[in-house]
Amino acid sequence: MTDRHYRTPVHINNEDDNNPSNPSAGPALSDLIRVRLSRRDALKGLMASAAIGAIGVGINPRGAAAAPKLGFAEIPHAYDENLHVPQGYTAKTLLRWGDPIIAGAPDFDPLKHDAAAQAGQFGYNCDFVHFCPLPEGSGASDHGLLVVNHEYTDAHMIFPGFADGKAALEATTAEMAAYEQAGHGLSVVEVKRDGNGWSAVPDSRLNRRITLATEMELVGPAAGDARLKTAADATGTRVLGTMNNCAGGWTPWGTILTAEENVHQYFGGDPEATPEAANAKRMGIKGEPSYAWGKFADRFDISKEPNEPNRFGWIVEVDPYDPASMPKKHTALGRFKHEAATTVINGDNRLVVYTGDDERFEYVYKYVSSGTFDPAAGRANSTLLDDGTLYVAKLDADGNVTWLPLTFGEGPLTEAKGFKNQADVLIEARRAGDLLEATKMDRPEDIEASDKTGKVYVVLTKNDKRKAEQVDAANAREKNIWGHIVEMVPPMKDGRADHAADRFTWNAFIQAGNPKDPEAKAIYGGEVSDAGWFANPDNIAFDASGRLWISTDGFPDHGVHDGLWVTETEGEGRAVTRHFLGCPRGAELCGPAFTPDGKTLFVAVQHPGDEDGSNFQNPSTRWPDFKDGMPPRPSVVAITKDDGGEIGA
Ligand code: FEO
Ligand code: CA
Ligand code: CA
Repeated sequence: MTDRHYRTPVHINNEDDNNPSNPSAGPALSDLIRVRLSRRDALKGLMASAAIGAIGVGINPRGAAAAPKLGFAEIPHAYDENLHVPQGYTAKTLLRWGDPIIAGAPDFDPLKHDAAAQAGQFGYNCDFVHFCPLPEGSGASDHGLLVVNHEYTDAHMIFPGFADGKAALEATTAEMAAYEQAGHGLSVVEVKRDGNGWSAVPDSRLNRRITLATEMELVGPAAGDARLKTAADATGTRVLGTMNNCAGGWTPWGTILTAEENVHQYFGGDPEATPEAANAKRMGIKGEPSYAWGKFADRFDISKEPNEPNRFGWIVEVDPYDPASMPKKHTALGRFKHEAATTVINGDNRLVVYTGDDERFEYVYKYVSSGTFDPAAGRANSTLLDDGTLYVAKLDADGNVTWLPLTFGEGPLTEAKGFKNQADVLIEARRAGDLLEATKMDRPEDIEASDKTGKVYVVLTKNDKRKAEQVDAANAREKNIWGHIVEMVPPMKDGRADHAADRFTWNAFIQAGNPKDPEAKAIYGGEVSDAGWFANPDNIAFDASGRLWISTDGFPDHGVHDGLWVTETEGEGRAVTRHFLGCPRGAELCGPAFTPDGKTLFVAVQHPGDEDGSNFQNPSTRWPDFKDGMPPRPSVVAITKDDGGEIGA
């Protein structure tokens, strides 16, 4: 989700991006020393240390490994109504908001806002995308299930004549609220590629919509805790729905992980009058919702149901191959504004999950399972996500990452600090991270691990609130309006990266921005073209050859469309980005996702046409339909190379 100024003010937004929720103490003396180090001496010092190979910190030390080459002609920076891909590529709109995907669902009618219809149609603002081959395990690249998150709805782009802000909340009817809830969640859609390219199978029995009405199970250490119980659920183990599903990930056993991000904006009422006041505040729940749902359902009013917000902000597992399966909210992975969840099978077969908390000055986390992955156990491996250790990251100026356990009874995570048990630690993971003095990052978005090198890439989209005295080595720019990407390097163990280790090293992979603008202090691995620089990285993905694809959210603040850039991570082309795709105006780019053969790239175009002054009547583009009266439609696009080759090669 974006917070750009060019979107209509005072509307669905990550309000807490403007008002960070992290009140924990400012930098300690050691931080100030680090600040001085990072600002005056870091570049010189870090380069020297990289040169001698003493630690993993450095400005783009060039790897020696052969890297895949980038073979496409870059597209220019632009800002217009269309989606752009390089010459020799074709972009086909595959799934649009409102397309019927459940048998019997009606065709899209932009003037009818029927929740039952929307619950059978592709949802709004698509974000995470993943391709699951059919049959399962086949590795097929021409037939599969697309799993897509629908992060949020934009009332002023959906409902004709709709204002924003308080007037919008007052104007929202029960029917409209139900429509919004049906536009949230996920879609699972069977897709096929034939001589005519990609198409959806609209009546497949595998197609599914998950919404705020879908029953889910809370599992793991916090399940059944008193703080998860409500009037509707005396067990504390059953929740209706998921929301603000941003990015995600997948598991080695064939399921999907979807991340509940900005859940604070759905709850009305007065948090101060509840026993959860401090917890609500730390999650940015202020009783100033962006949605009017609390008018129609007690559970979205924190005064009436103080525990309902505790049932959101988790990582949710969905089995895309079984439309009757009940999604699981895995509490062991902590509760915060999850952006994504990336799994790695460690060398010792334990499961490691990386996940970030996307808000200014929030943290990067990883989870390490107690048990080990068993390929023969199939879906039963899901319990690996219920028994393990959650860690939060501290990144020091000396180039070390220390992973600090969020374990009840250890360090400050005790009754003296208000934690009664592990459930409390997980429900209030942010406060636990504060007490452990984790590193406050510039909005952690997606995280991916390279299966070629074992290195882990952490995307920090921006933080324009970081003051000079808050600058640290890992977040090295004051008023960071460009974003950066940190590379974490696990130590090697038995010839493999040890993702379970307590200590990694880190280095600055890219500091985004225009290299010709001295104020930006941009860092790339070499010379980038005029189109190759970017800002505000968000979702990332590796392709089968190990290239890193970077999508952006917020580049229009710098006058350029959001889109997709790609780089190698090793060799001569390391951290030298090239521009592959540009969004229609108003949109951010999400996905990206590849078929196993790397010959199809799926991207999600989120909130097209939504800028300052845009609304249903006057969007800044009517992409992708370009028909009078038809609003712009958030859509998933399939991109193929005309010669049938690998994308980007
Ligand atoms: Fe939903 Fe952090 O982007
Ligand atoms: Ca995002
Ligand atoms: Ca990703």
